[in-house]
Amino acid sequence: MLQIDHISKSFSTGRDKRTVVLDDIALEIHAGQSIGLVGESGSGKSTIIRCALGLMKPDTGNVRYGGIDVHRSGRADMLAFRREVQLVFQDPYASLNPRMTVEELVGEGLLVHKLDGSASGRRRRVVEMLEMVGLGEEALGRYPRSFSGGQRQRIAIARALVIRPQLLICDEPVSALDVSVQAQVINLLQDMQRELNLGILFVAHDLAVVRHLCSTIAVLERGKIVERGTRGDIFDNPQHPYTRSLLAAVPIPDPAVGQARRAKRQLAL
Ligand SMILES: Nc1ncnc2c1ncn2[C@@H]1O[C@H](COP(=O)(O)OP(=O)(O)O)[C@@H](O)[C@H]1O
Ligand SMILES: [Mg+2]
Repeated sequence: MLQIDHISKSFSTGRDKRTVVLDDIALEIHAGQSIGLVGESGSGKSTIIRCALGLMKPDTGNVRYGGIDVHRSGRADMLAFRREVQLVFQDPYASLNPRMTVEELVGEGLLVHKLDGSASGRRRRVVEMLEMVGLGEEALGRYPRSFSGGQRQRIAIARALVIRPQLLICDEPVSALDVSVQAQVINLLQDMQRELNLGILFVAHDLAVVRHLCSTIAVLERGKIVERGTRGDIFDNPQHPYTRSLLAAVPIPDPAVGQARRAKRQLAL
């Protein structure tokens, strides 16, 4: 579905100086597959997403969606791409327009993509979607400020999924939430993935967060993928020292417990 084909990117950092931010990144996401991309802050995660969305052109390599180069696609392909690939951002406070009601926020994609002509048809789909994310019809006329962080992220997820995308890209969607709420939002994404056969690219700086949701995990260190594997590979048999250090960074209540077990407990919240 989405193919990130050996992209590299550097930025100019002063006279005659460039910093390599992405170094030969290759990543493929198939329909219905969920991939976790994990790395510290500044490792290049959001830059990969910008390139994948066609918002930033890599210096070398290319990105294809359904076989079409996202940096060279025509208007019709771009429109389809914008419908099929949706985003959820880190900060549900900043990503939702405070002057729009939940009905407007969630229904906007239907209008933009002309997916449901009548106002009553749109409302039906918005209510259906709100119920899927655990909010009810009573949310329709309310504004984002009257919801908690976790609820806002549910609204953002409903807004992204109402037009039935094929791929959801999540850029640290739970980093701004309390730990107890994080697990709820991840569970919701997992349910959505199963119900809608959604592909997910889930970006996080914390390995524990992706373990539950992602069958495949790639570890990014300073713009380079240093390790990738199934969740079992990464958690039970990490090969790269950087992966091990990320696993060790998961809070450890009991030093006698093995690393994989610790991470597991972390997620059982
Ligand atoms: N437009 C830009 N110009 C210069 N440097 C940038 C730009 N965008 C990102 N960077 C740098 O690239 C690195 C990776 O950034 P980013 O992709 O946002 O990391 P992450 O999302 O993993 O925290 C950082 O060092 C950041 O300062
Ligand atoms: Mg980022």
